[in-house]
Amino acid sequence: MRLEIRHLTKRYRRGQTHFDAVYNVSFSLAEGAFVSLIGRSGSGKTTLLNMVIGLLGPDSGEVLVDGINLFSLDDRQRSDFRNARVGYIPQGRSLLGNLTALGNARLPFHLQRRSGDSLQKARELFVQLGISHLENSYPAELSGGELRRVALARALINSPELILADEPTSDLDIGTAREIWELFARLNAQGVAFLMATHDVELSRRGNAIWELHSGQLTQETK
Ligand SMILES: Nc1ncnc2c1ncn2[C@@H]1O[C@H](COP(=O)(O)OP(=O)(O)O)[C@@H](O)[C@H]1O
Ligand SMILES: [Mg+2]
Repeated sequence: MRLEIRHLTKRYRRGQTHFDAVYNVSFSLAEGAFVSLIGRSGSGKTTLLNMVIGLLGPDSGEVLVDGINLFSLDDRQRSDFRNARVGYIPQGRSLLGNLTALGNARLPFHLQRRSGDSLQKARELFVQLGISHLENSYPAELSGGELRRVALARALINSPELILADEPTSDLDIGTAREIWELFARLNAQGVAFLMATHDVELSRRGNAIWELHSGQLTQETK
């Protein structure tokens, strides 16, 4: 997938004033890239990722996927793109409380209305992620690290070409974080691209590039 971001801007209102949470951000993400997006809390990382995946409309600018502007598509086509080609690991807790771990992980498959069955794939992912014993548990019964792995299984269920992850290792113990680094590295070696917002120095060191957001602007490309 060729992903090109051109002059993205998102403006929010705060009290009587407006400010740009993301301002004039442009980049292209090469196939198979492994890029970390760093920046202080409030610098616009989540806002940017939400636009890249088409969940949040920009005030100006474009997200081009293989040359097609995501925001020229209708809602259905945009959600097809999201479900079929991208795996998203949102910040914080994002699982549905009334579905089991396995039900959550299988959801993007069913939203995509594919033929076949996601059960076997979901079970394989649960084995890989070391959470097979939690298949029938509900989110409220799981720890932070376990929830994150279920969210990862959900992101991987449709074998995406690109994973967008928003602070995927925050609040995890070092052992669990390390397992996630290894898993990301394995997937990346298989050709899956990553764009991740992260404060995890070790994780960002493993990538090809570190980009920094500063008050909504992409100010630096290190590495
Ligand atoms: N829906 C919203 N309405 C108004 N302001 C918002 C909204 N979402 C985020 N913001 C503000 O935009 C800025 C960027 O937020 P965010 O993208 O979540 O930053 P980060 O992920 O880097 O911590 C912050 O100042 C935040 O308060
Ligand atoms: Mg954020």
